[in-house]
This record gives sequence, C-alpha cells and structure tokens, in this order.
Amino acid sequence: MIDKNSPIPIYYQLEAEIKQLIEGKKLKPGDMIPSEREYSERFNISRMTVRQAINNLVKDGYLVRQRGKGTFVAEEKLEQKLQGLTSFTEDMQARGLVPTTRLLEFSLMDPPADVRNQLQLDRGENVFKMERVRLADGIPMALESSYVPQQILGDIKEETVRHSLYQYIEHTLQLDIGQGTQVLEASVARKRESEILEIKEGAPVLLMKRYTRLKNGQPFEVVKSIYRADRYKFIINIHR
Ligand code: GLP
Repeated sequence: MIDKNSPIPIYYQLEAEIKQLIEGKKLKPGDMIPSEREYSERFNISRMTVRQAINNLVKDGYLVRQRGKGTFVAEEKLEQKLQGLTSFTEDMQARGLVPTTRLLEFSLMDPPADVRNQLQLDRGENVFKMERVRLADGIPMALESSYVPQQILGDIKEETVRHSLYQYIEHTLQLDIGQGTQVLEASVARKRESEILEIKEGAPVLLMKRYTRLKNGQPFEVVKSIYRADRYKFIINIHR
C-alpha cells in the first residue's frame, strides 16, 4: 500500500503495487485497470502522481493504453527460443496457438544482387519472393519477406505459402533442412509495417534475419522478419 512518509517516491510505490498485482496474476492480460481518478481517490494522491506511475508502466510494457477505452494489462510476450531451426507454424502450434498467414506478395523475380549472392545463384536464375504477415490466434505477430530459389520450389502454388513453407519443403519436396544463421537486431516500425502489424509507427520491433541451407549445403532461403517487440521475447540457454 502507499506510505506517504516513506522516502520512496509515491509514484514509484504505486508503480510497484500495480506491477505486483500483474506479476501475481491478480490483474490478468486484457484486464482494465482503474482510472487515474479512481487511483487518486483511493490513495488520496494527486492525479499527476498516478499518471507518472501509469506512464512508466506503459513505457515498460506492463500496460497498454487504448484511446477512448482505458488502460489495460498488456498481453504476455511469447518466449521464442534462439536455438533450434523451427518454423513459425511449428512455434505457434507448440504453444497451442493457431497460426495463419496473410499473403501480401507472391512473385517470381530476378533477385536483388545481395540475395543472389547469398543464395549462390547465377544470373538468370529466379527466386520466389513472398511477403507474409504471420498471425497467432488472429493477432499479427511478424511480417516476413523471404526469397527462395525457383529451382528448389519448382511450380509451388500460392496457396502453399499461406501455410507452412518448411512443411512443403520437408514433406512435399522431401528435402532436408540443414542449418542456418540468424541475426537479431533492434529496430522501429515504419509506417507501413506499423499498419500491418497493428502497432504504432515508431514502436520497437525485433528484426530477425535468417539465412538457411539444406542438409546438402545448398542455400534455400533468405528471410527478413519483423517481430513485434511487445509480443516477443527471445531466450537462449547458456553454458560454461
Ligand atoms: C520462421 C522464420 C522464417 C521461416 C519461417 C517458416 O518464421 N523466422 O525464416 O521462413 O519460420 O515458417 P513456415 O514453415 O510456417 O512457413
């Protein structure tokens, strides 16, 4: 509770109080928290002080403001392992979430030079470019742009990449996916990305670049994924 005689600032005490309720699951994701007025009356503190506490919790990702509606407890972030070469479909299914895909682009093209180099293609060899919004239980999680050699995918149909690309490669084409390199960087959502991912322009995102080879060493995909930083956290086990 709030102790006005404590040397700890009041906004900080309120912040800690709300955090504790969230961590103790007394306030659950999606719950609306009391208004500034309610808090200020309940603890007999100024609305400015309440606002400061709530602003900090919004900045730290514990709460989200919805204009005209109120302030809510944020959804828990998905924990994504950094080890392991898994697909979006597998990751979501493993969590009991339903993966879906909105296909924004599916085209056969002459690759940009950097992609051609990474995929070790000769001039004249085409790639499929696909841009996909990946959703979990209907919520947009990531925006992915992938390039895959035509020579590997053959006459793949648009419908296929609305589902799992990896399943198609492994089950239909019977190719073994081998290993890859993944790079993770911090970034912010640009206007178009923010609209697609349903976040604010300038909101933090995680940029994940993946470059993958088949077991036989042949490069098969170059992917740039933009993950919502308010929905994802990455975890890795370390040893010494
Ligand atoms: C993840 C990876 C992508 C990969 C995709 C395949 O999202 N970040 O690099 O292309 O999985 O997923 P799926 O098999 O569901 O199409």
